[in-house]
Amino acid sequence: MMRPSSKKKSVVRPAGKPKLSAVRTPKPDQRLLDAEQYLLPTYKRQPVLMTHGRGAYVYDSTGKKYLDFLGGIAVNALGHAHPRIVKVIRREAARAIHLSNLYHNAFQGPLARKLASWSGLDRVFFANSGTEAIDGAMKLSRLLGRKPDESAGTVAKKHRFLAMENSFHGRTLGAISVTATEKYRLPFAPVVPGVEFVRFNDVADLESKFDDSVCAILIETVQGEGGIYPVHEAFWNRARALATQHGALLIADEIQCGLGRTGRYFSYQRFSSRPDIAVIAKPLAAGLPLGAILTTEAVASRVSPGLHGTTFGGGPLACAVALEFLNIIEDEKLLENVRQRGAELRDGLAKLAAKFDFIREVRAEGLMLGVELSIDGNPFVAEAMQRGLLINCTHDFTLRLLPPFIITSSQVREFLRLFELVLATTPRNASAPDSNKSPNHERAAHAAAR
Ligand SMILES: Cc1ncc(COP(=O)(O)O)c(C=O)c1O
Repeated sequence: MMRPSSKKKSVVRPAGKPKLSAVRTPKPDQRLLDAEQYLLPTYKRQPVLMTHGRGAYVYDSTGKKYLDFLGGIAVNALGHAHPRIVKVIRREAARAIHLSNLYHNAFQGPLARKLASWSGLDRVFFANSGTEAIDGAMKLSRLLGRKPDESAGTVAKKHRFLAMENSFHGRTLGAISVTATEKYRLPFAPVVPGVEFVRFNDVADLESKFDDSVCAILIETVQGEGGIYPVHEAFWNRARALATQHGALLIADEIQCGLGRTGRYFSYQRFSSRPDIAVIAKPLAAGLPLGAILTTEAVASRVSPGLHGTTFGGGPLACAVALEFLNIIEDEKLLENVRQRGAELRDGLAKLAAKFDFIREVRAEGLMLGVELSIDGNPFVAEAMQRGLLINCTHDFTLRLLPPFIITSSQVREFLRLFELVLATTPRNASAPDSNKSPNHERAAHAAAR
């Protein structure tokens, strides 16, 4: 008896072409198609659908596992599904997700107290994101700059902001006004007026631009998006002294580098002076959206009800989770882990830098690391992903690593093995993808940061 398959007509294919079954592409995922069709195209996304995470690993919809050295861009400091965070979310979600800032809730006050004790500052305002907290800090600066004899609605004499070249402070209109990167700012001009950019870590430039018309100076204590550049002590000290002398506020943007990332509660704690305002967000509520403005009693004394506010900021669920996050950092001695694993990573990367001549520099502050290349870094990100490793690239030439604070020594070794493979096998592409950029252009922009 003939087998049914043998009755099929044989298909004649042109020589060399593979069988249809061999080239059949998998059915496209409808969820990706929906995203493609219905979302505003604001992000250059990898065509993968991430489904869940556990500890330092993330999984996609095909079941592929990735070692997460990006942590949702410095958000997932405890990795994924930390049991204590999951427990608090379950408990509080069943009690009250949102109440209102018209009432007190059980967690805002205790969380503010804890943040005050960590930061050395006195008072807290809860927002929903980093950029919103930056805008709030800018409003406070304008408020403080206005003298009693300058009526509301007029341009106060003290209204200028000094911000840094190579800075990034977020995407709202206020935040882009103090963000140096032109492609984020210029399409939306006119932005908030009165902003001048200072060469990062250039004391002479800072001195030449500071006067009594400045209401605030904004400094990322470690520039993150800009490529992991810490502010120098001499520059910080001079900024502090000039702000005090001219009655301006010193604002530390600790959104990416704060809350333990550099091995200290706040990165400015490597200096002897504190800012007037510190702005935080990212890891604060372990992945739930929460930002905060921390400030002094002197600033707080000028604030009255109705001047600033938000519907969602400081909700009970987000604040309960944030309080648990800060307690976990202390209980699990994670600052120590950040310092130790950070040192292991820095040493491992230094060895790789000696081996691969296209690595120009390794910069590291705790678990905030940048590997600057002399060639386009984007293909390395794609190759890393293929190999099950999540990293990213800023300004086209700096590979950025932001692993979770819970990372272990063996995961550091796993990363270094994978990263070496990525460096060894990625096809080199010397030219930058953006024609406005070249390594030299970038180098010049960053030269001041050293
Ligand atoms: C230093 C810094 N400031 C501000 C922001 C903006 O924060 P968000 O994205 O939460 O608005 C970011 C985000 O990457 C940041 O790194």
